[in-house]
Amino acid sequence: MAAFQLFFPLLVSCVAASARPPRHLPSCQVVQMDVFCSDLSLRSAPNDLPPDVQMLDLSRNQVQNLSQETLAYHTSFHHLNLHSNKIHFIQPGLFRNMTDLKVLDLSRNHLNVFALSKTNIGPLTAVESLDLSSNGLYTGMSDYFLADSPSLTNLSLNSNSITKIAQNTFIGSLSLKKISLHNNVILEIEDGAFDSLNHLTELDLSKNSITCITDFNLYNLKVLNLSKNSMELFHSSKSTVSYEILSLDLSQNKISSFPLLPRINKLKYLDISRNQLQSINVTETNTNIILMHLSYLDMSYNQLKSIPESFFSCMISLEVLNVSNNCIDSFSITNEHFFSRVRIINLSNNNLQSLTFGEKTLQSLEELVLQGNDLTTLDHQTFQRLPSIIHLHLQQNNLKICTSEKKPSLTDLDHQDPSGCVSFSSIPNLQFLYLSENNLETLPANAFANTHLRLLDLSLNPGLDMHKDSLSGLEHSLVHLLLRENNISKLNTDLSSLRSLKHVDLSTNQLTTLPMWTKDSSIESLNLQNNNLVTLEYNTMAALERSLKTLYMGSNPLSCCKNHGFLHLVQHSAVVVPDIETVTCIHEENSEPVNIETVTQEMCQRQGQPNYIIVIVVLALVTIIVVGLVAKCCHARKRKHNRSFSA
Ligand SMILES: *[C@@H]1O[C@H](CO)[C@@H](O)[C@H](O)[C@H]1NC(C)=O
Ligand SMILES: *[C@@H]1O[C@H](CO)[C@@H](O)[C@H](O)[C@H]1NC(C)=O
Ligand SMILES: *[C@@H]1O[C@H](CO)[C@@H](O)[C@H](O)[C@H]1NC(C)=O
Ligand SMILES: *[C@@H]1O[C@H](CO)[C@@H](O)[C@H](O)[C@H]1NC(C)=O
Ligand SMILES: *[C@@H]1O[C@H](CO)[C@@H](O)[C@H](O)[C@H]1NC(C)=O
Ligand SMILES: *[C@@H]1O[C@H](CO)[C@@H](O)[C@H](O)[C@H]1NC(C)=O
Ligand SMILES: *[C@@H]1O[C@H](CO)[C@@H](O)[C@H](O)[C@H]1NC(C)=O
Ligand SMILES: *[C@@H]1O[C@H](CO)[C@@H](O)[C@H](O)[C@H]1NC(C)=O
Repeated sequence: MAAFQLFFPLLVSCVAASARPPRHLPSCQVVQMDVFCSDLSLRSAPNDLPPDVQMLDLSRNQVQNLSQETLAYHTSFHHLNLHSNKIHFIQPGLFRNMTDLKVLDLSRNHLNVFALSKTNIGPLTAVESLDLSSNGLYTGMSDYFLADSPSLTNLSLNSNSITKIAQNTFIGSLSLKKISLHNNVILEIEDGAFDSLNHLTELDLSKNSITCITDFNLYNLKVLNLSKNSMELFHSSKSTVSYEILSLDLSQNKISSFPLLPRINKLKYLDISRNQLQSINVTETNTNIILMHLSYLDMSYNQLKSIPESFFSCMISLEVLNVSNNCIDSFSITNEHFFSRVRIINLSNNNLQSLTFGEKTLQSLEELVLQGNDLTTLDHQTFQRLPSIIHLHLQQNNLKICTSEKKPSLTDLDHQDPSGCVSFSSIPNLQFLYLSENNLETLPANAFANTHLRLLDLSLNPGLDMHKDSLSGLEHSLVHLLLRENNISKLNTDLSSLRSLKHVDLSTNQLTTLPMWTKDSSIESLNLQNNNLVTLEYNTMAALERSLKTLYMGSNPLSCCKNHGFLHLVQHSAVVVPDIETVTCIHEENSEPVNIETVTQEMCQRQGQPNYIIVIVVLALVTIIVVGLVAKCCHARKRKHNRSFSA
């Protein structure tokens, strides 16, 4: 009995010791006043948090019941991160005493369960940013969290199941500046739901089911996102009050006529891409709106057949215009005042057959995207009229390139306009020129004279005949040259004079020899995949080795034993051959190609041996036969001799 009495207190103290929480929060990280306990399967905060903890990260744990106890009776928090737990209950009034709590993240929990109990979480005394996203909340449920949140400025209700924004939804959170309702199923916004929010500047309603906005009147709003709804109509109120709106995203809707924007506005960014615009009624738009500040306009992926020039008359600040992926067949800018600040025009993937730029228009244009059109004939001086042009995307058209202008001749008779071609000479700022897939047949001499191209893409023009002087003038500027899939069997043009050239793509041609390069070359990457190369010039390879960093060489009928230069490069230099797995060579006639890395010196030395062996074997056989014959002969004579003896 005495023994048991002694044992019992010991047991109790043991149990007590093991229940006491560890002193140094072994698994949580403590950095000054911030405690990080993410992803530790915790049901509550550790008991020995620093007394004045400011930030607690309890995200990705197993918290179910959020109470004073779960938070270890601390109220000093500034920032509480509880996302990705299983919270389905919050002790009412829990946040009342947390007078420093500014940021509260409750996203990815089960707060719909709590809302079903129709209990209010009580005042969010100081909370400025509240995240309730992904909580399965549906219409009306947000009321239990927002009823008393006087300091709230930033609210996220993203990825819930809200179908309606009722008039009184935000009645308890009048300081709101930013509301995100992305990815809900909002069908209806009651009249005046946002009206009392005088500070509201940013509203994200993207990815919902809104079909129309008929009387947009949020004068103070700066950013409105209505992307990915089912909008057919956007009409602002006819008021003449000035709107603060800066950015309006209406992309991916079903809008078929240009939106009726606020008459007086500060709009800078307007995205109406991926809608159903078919035409632009200039009279209607221009008499109602003035888009003086608009700098970005995206109307790509619509069904526009044309855009009247006058549509742009009020857009004096426009910098970026995207009308790609429409059905526009002609585009013309003649008024020098309309597009004076435009830097980028994207007209890719239309049906453009005609393109006209008047003198002195588009003085600031830096990038013109005309890819994927039907352009065949252009005024041959079209691009010379663009003094600031840097990027020209002309791939997938049907253009022809003119020879460089002849030196000014004495008579004007000699100086006739070449027709049916466009000129790329004397465009001083042009640096990036894309001409792939144009069915180009010839590239005349001096095609780019006085144009300091850095990149030239001539790929996918099978049969392209490049004049030997076609690239002259580019000696000191050209860095990238792309000649992929051109069916070139011999390069006439001397690339070694292009002193700045670093990246060359010659893949998928019929090349049997390498272009010549000398020790002055600065080639860093070279793509020779899929050609007809059997041997690689030793001297050229040695010259390249100095600067080359990357070499693509797969799919060529290389000879295994006649490419010492290449083998040396692969085995002994820093050059990377990314497609080395597909670089094969042919070792013996009629044998399967082998991977070039498996080639050894012995393999190549042995190549002469079969004949040698045959010679040896034949010699040996002959010797044996001769020796045999001689021996037999001697033997016979001996026998004769013997016989004569016995006779
Ligand atoms: C949550 O915890 C509090 C205090 O610990 C307790 O009173 C309450 O019953 C719990 N609620 C639920 C739903 O578990
Ligand atoms: C808030 O503080 C008051 C007194 O300061 C205290 O009586 C009350 O229990 C506290 N409530 C919570 C939920 O912490
Ligand atoms: C608002 O909250 C969201 C998520 O809760 C956050 O990503 C964003 O940075 C906050 N914005 C501001 C201005 O506080
Ligand atoms: C609008 O929302 C969509 C979808 O969430 C997003 O992709 C887009 O970037 C937003 N638009 C702007 C202008 O921020
Ligand atoms: C353009 O809008 C005006 C004014 O709303 C209207 O009278 C006219 O019929 C419209 N024109 C076209 C081609 O739709
Ligand atoms: C439209 O073109 C502009 C400029 O080229 C680009 O920045 C933008 O992403 C394009 N819009 C779409 C929807 O791809
Ligand atoms: C032009 O716009 C299209 C979409 O409309 C976009 O995909 C493309 O990247 C843009 N081109 C350039 C060069 O910006
Ligand atoms: C490629 O050139 C060869 C002759 O060198 C010619 O027979 C073949 O038709 C050409 N292929 C194409 C697609 O132009």
